[in-house]
Amino acid sequence: MKFFVDTANLAQIKEATELGILDGCTTNPTLMAKEGIVGEKNVWDHYKKICEIVDGDVSAEVISTDYKGIIEEGKKLAKLHKNIVVKVPMIREGVKAIKYFSDNGIKTNCTLVFSPGQAILAAKAGATYLSPFVGRLDDINIDGIGLIHQIRHIYDNYQFKTQILAASVRNALHIVRCAEAGADVVTCPLNSIVSLFAHPLTDKGLEQFLVDHAKANKK
Ligand code: G3P
Repeated sequence: MKFFVDTANLAQIKEATELGILDGCTTNPTLMAKEGIVGEKNVWDHYKKICEIVDGDVSAEVISTDYKGIIEEGKKLAKLHKNIVVKVPMIREGVKAIKYFSDNGIKTNCTLVFSPGQAILAAKAGATYLSPFVGRLDDINIDGIGLIHQIRHIYDNYQFKTQILAASVRNALHIVRCAEAGADVVTCPLNSIVSLFAHPLTDKGLEQFLVDHAKANKK
């Protein structure tokens, strides 16, 4: 399973790489805006900065929603850095554009996926990654993890190569459940990744080891 960090915050991205377990990064227009990055040039420069930190795929989302616009914008984004993956929304024009990018060697991440039918369309078009939003489904009382299970089952039935990139993953339990469901990638905020370290018995055990070592080594 691959771990991506879901943020545009450079300090958090650096911290995530320092953990030694990071494989990539995902962003979206909301996360960019949250960092105060506005204007096309600033946003594109920011993508380059992220790519210089992350040794792996970095999703950069298009703003256009028409086929021609998505193609033009996606081509420019892909030229920014070899790590860029063009993130495209799950809409008709988006799926057509994913097919174009796939035929022309440009990696894609199909985003805003909420149903197995959408997952089939993206895979047929040749998406590199598919982003089903686990947390946002849970928010409306639909089982987000259940969707990951369904998509895994369908993709395995047909040997679709599209990688399931579980998104809108918000806590340690979500991460573990996505892993159990066979997600290829999980993307989440840094604090969710860090929360995987925590276990009271680890803390208690370490404290005892250090106390015993100190006692035994007293002069
Ligand atoms: O990048 C898309 C996704 O991860 C957003 O998560 O928490 O805003 O639903 P969230």
